[in-house]
Amino acid sequence: SMHTELEKLLDTTTGEAEREVSRKDFEGFKNLFHRFLQVKGPSVEWIKIQRPPEDSIQPFDKIAARGLPDNVADSLNKLVVVKLNGGLGTSMGCKGPKSLISVRNENTFLDLTVQQIEHLNKTYNTDVPLVLMNSFNTDEDTKKILQKYTHHRVKIHTFNQSRYPRINKESLLPVSTNLSMNGQNTEGWYPPGHGDIYASFYNSGLLDQLIVQGKEYIFVSNIDNLGATVDLHILHHLVSQPNGKRCEFIMEVTDKTRADVKGGTLIQYDGKLRLLEIAQVPKAHVDEFKSVSKFKIFNTNNLWISLAAIKRLQEQKAMDLEIIVNPKTLDGGQNVVQLETAVGAAIKCFDNALGINVPRSRFLPVKTTSDLLLVMSNLYSLEAGSLTMSPKREFPTTPHVKLGSSFTKVQEYVNRFESIPDMLELDHLTVSGDVTFGKNVSLKGTVIIIANHGDRIDIPAGSMLENKIVSGNLRI
Ligand code: UTP
Repeated sequence: SMHTELEKLLDTTTGEAEREVSRKDFEGFKNLFHRFLQVKGPSVEWIKIQRPPEDSIQPFDKIAARGLPDNVADSLNKLVVVKLNGGLGTSMGCKGPKSLISVRNENTFLDLTVQQIEHLNKTYNTDVPLVLMNSFNTDEDTKKILQKYTHHRVKIHTFNQSRYPRINKESLLPVSTNLSMNGQNTEGWYPPGHGDIYASFYNSGLLDQLIVQGKEYIFVSNIDNLGATVDLHILHHLVSQPNGKRCEFIMEVTDKTRADVKGGTLIQYDGKLRLLEIAQVPKAHVDEFKSVSKFKIFNTNNLWISLAAIKRLQEQKAMDLEIIVNPKTLDGGQNVVQLETAVGAAIKCFDNALGINVPRSRFLPVKTTSDLLLVMSNLYSLEAGSLTMSPKREFPTTPHVKLGSSFTKVQEYVNRFESIPDMLELDHLTVSGDVTFGKNVSLKGTVIIIANHGDRIDIPAGSMLENKIVSGNLRI
């Protein structure tokens, strides 16, 4: 009956091209849904999990120590940068694509990405293109903005990921009654996670087009990870593996801290490297999964993948990515599930896959305005679209920042700072309630500012707060 419900949905589609896209989406969804129905129990047996073999996760330093050859440009010309751009800025209170939020000096995530690649192309006289994987949520707004890069030295392509129907949690029937994207029906559909990249990239025809142009690898990352720049050492390592040991997939992992306990980790399973996500872990082992001593590293979602291998696996229909069941409650109160997959889960399908343990600086995601405050501050400097930690910071770690709910939305957050405070010597900042910061405030050590309900605290311009608790009228 799922089948007929969906056929009915398709019948209302107009236009040949649109119909073809819907048909492919339908095929993809049908496949995922059938696999979902077949799944019984957890996708891993805990006792079969093994530590990855010694040489399967290599330290970045070891790879970088080998140096770079003269023909870096040749390797770069085989590379395509792909950014996952299906997501919205909702968690930071923004409408539209997350990639269009300003993160530093009026530059958006997308601006910074374009600047980085343009800089590469100018420096090495190369032709590295940028590919954006959009979703039906982000495509239109993103394309409007792309016009502004027409005269930049980077060719930009886009393709759309699939659009799948949300299904009712109990009945498992689609919640939408037609394909219209207007009004209430927007809630009926979702982009099925970044694991969708393999099928939609292949189906779009762009993958073949790039192969024909001589491209061999993609570097994929989350567009909100400001640390995900093209690393020439990793690229060189990838292209210089001897024939017969051709590495088709590299996952950049980094050391886990107690703040990263939810990230996916690499394990050895059935003789292959595999990504283990918290959603796959049986309840009884969740604490073990979170421990930083047993599972020491996590996936940054910076991935280097062979285009030919993606093509082969798609044609063999050999990618069976673990399904992540994502429960949601719609505005009207209806409980639905979204079936999703993750891009990193495909590591088990590729030959000679490898992990590289990279410095933390390659994982700089901006998920909240607290993250935004850090990347806007003098802790970082911006050069050719890349952020680097200021050499003036004496400790290698970033401060812990926790801004309260009055700062959640980007617009409110922006209005609360006349200028971004000096944070070079900050360890810990907690702000709660109605708080504003004047110009040129300096924060050092541990600073806690708490405005009680109904109170407001304005930190005066030029203040220096060092190891201070500010709360109501009370100053300690
Ligand atoms: P998220 O922000 O949703 O995920 O997407 P996350 O919490 O960082 O964790 P992981 O990486 O899923 O473990 C990460 C990136 O993937 C894109 C988003 O736009 C963002 O750049 N994305 C996510 C898509 O392009 N399509 C999707 O369906 C989901």
